[in-house]
Amino acid sequence: MESTKARLCSFSDLKEGDVIKASSDPPIAAYLVNGEVFATSNICTHGNSELSDGYLDGDRIECGLHLAQFCIRTGAPGAPAAVPLATYNVEVIDGDVYVDLPAQPI
Ligand code: FES
Repeated sequence: MESTKARLCSFSDLKEGDVIKASSDPPIAAYLVNGEVFATSNICTHGNSELSDGYLDGDRIECGLHLAQFCIRTGAPGAPAAVPLATYNVEVIDGDVYVDLPAQPI
């Protein structure tokens, strides 16, 4: 599948062991865990809650609304969520964080 590269934030915007709201279109959350950057959809698949308002524990983000946990590496959900979270390939280039977004249908 074709994709386009989009800048999310500066690497220096990230804090070790924490999550930030990095983009609102599409909504993307960025994470820094043990020096590794991850990016997922920022919207919980269980409802309309921003995961950047949640709690990051290792490589799992917990939604602040009903406490579903998602693996930020794979998007795998835990109850009460059943739908996986979208994850994005991340690249850090010259101090900026980029993700590969799927090409939009024309
Ligand atoms: S909205 Fe996230 S767990 Fe319900």
